[in-house]
Amino acid sequence: MSQSKTQHKKRIAIIDDEPIACREIQRGLAKDLYVVETFGDGESALEKLASDPFDLVFCDLRLPGKDGLEIVREVKKRHPLTEVIVFTGYGSIDTAVEAIQAGAFHFLTKPVKINELRSLAARALEKVALIQEKETLKKSLAAYSRQQYIIGHSQAMQEVLSVVKKVSSLNCNVLIQGESGTGKELVARAIHFLGSRREHPFIAFSCGGFSEELIANELFGHEKGAFTGALNTKIGLLESADKGTIFLDEIEIMPASMQVKLLRFIQERTLIRVGGTKQIPLDVRIIAAGNKNLKKATEDKRFREDLFYRLNVVLIELPPLRDRRSDIPLLISHFIKKYNQQFGMSVSLTDPKVLEIFNQYPFPGNVRELENIIERAIALSDDKTITVEDLPEDLFAFSIEDMKEKTWLSLKDHEREYIRCVLNETGNNKVKAAEILQVSRTTLWRKIKQYDLDIPTT
Ligand SMILES: Nc1ncnc2c1ncn2[C@@H]1O[C@H](COP(=O)(O)OP(=O)(O)OP(=O)(O)O)[C@@H](O)[C@H]1O
Ligand SMILES: [Mg+2]
Repeated sequence: MSQSKTQHKKRIAIIDDEPIACREIQRGLAKDLYVVETFGDGESALEKLASDPFDLVFCDLRLPGKDGLEIVREVKKRHPLTEVIVFTGYGSIDTAVEAIQAGAFHFLTKPVKINELRSLAARALEKVALIQEKETLKKSLAAYSRQQYIIGHSQAMQEVLSVVKKVSSLNCNVLIQGESGTGKELVARAIHFLGSRREHPFIAFSCGGFSEELIANELFGHEKGAFTGALNTKIGLLESADKGTIFLDEIEIMPASMQVKLLRFIQERTLIRVGGTKQIPLDVRIIAAGNKNLKKATEDKRFREDLFYRLNVVLIELPPLRDRRSDIPLLISHFIKKYNQQFGMSVSLTDPKVLEIFNQYPFPGNVRELENIIERAIALSDDKTITVEDLPEDLFAFSIEDMKEKTWLSLKDHEREYIRCVLNETGNNKVKAAEILQVSRTTLWRKIKQYDLDIPTT
């Protein structure tokens, strides 16, 4: 994600009232494939900057209207991420020093030497790219901590969470196993963002559906000319994930030749791009995931045993949702909150018939399926509560065979989870909850104690 941000063509503005100087500098920068625009005065450049920010501004100190020093101050005030380099004549070094104190990146004396100009531009833009990347990571971290937490009160999920916390501070490889939609990627992200690599990239890649060549190309990158059509050097995902984490999904179907390459990468901590010879040292944590039993694949010789042991330093097994049904009410509340926020709605779920249907359903698509059902129900709901009509038909059409497999909740468990769900929905407001449940507040209080429901005292 941060990649695309830093790989856009850099935009440069040149502000100089001498058209010949502008043209010469523009020509000097043309080789480096920047987008360059020229301006005869500071005001018009500032106007353009407001709607379409530049990464770098070259600015003459002596200008009609606002002078260069004022422009530096305004650019840095309004667009702190934009770098400014000023041009100065021999007589105005003092002003150039002042410009640097006001936030300019550097100055160039006129007449400008093109090589000097290009190398200074490259250095300034490198700084811009680094800062932009850091900003993107900060934003993604903030977005992560705002909305991506793992929900689960069940014993099984509590155990998963405790392992996630432990391994996040270590640097070992982790293997996550679980059916589709059980939260493998969510857990991988949690491990990355809770650990010391959080300010470096998290990159997810799924091995499914790609040819051997394509996987090698994506993960390891290639050198210019490595094959017909390789016009430029391509940085692979492993290189982009340096100091961070790569999440390799559907690992069980990784082709044999790629398994060898990956094993070598783990053992030697260096990578050679396709068609290259140079060993590039890297520090990448690998979190692999699969929805099949990888151990079994090694026994059947479809997966290399040595690679399996390298990946499986810590194993996290995510149980299917049907084996941790007590998490369903919590997940329902979580997704209701999420999609109400997203759609700007305030739909709730209090209809016992709907809850009963959820309680019967085996959720073959696990948490993802539950999430989709809630998202759809909120989008379709035309009143304030989700009704049976807002649910997809599949929910009513599961087979008796599915029913046999599912674990039934006892009446007590059912009551406890229903109370928990209503309390969640009402923001733990016991007066409202008692009203919905049609019991006295004393009865509700007794039940909360009896079931040891963890409700904050208000
Ligand atoms: N315990 C959980 N708490 C909150 N949200 C969850 C939980 N588990 C899964 N989700 C949500 O369910 C959806 C599916 O999760 P995720 O993509 O991590 O599953 P997966 O196991 O990687 O699936 P697949 O095997 O199909 O790739 C995501 O939107 C995720 O945020
Ligand atoms: Mg996934």
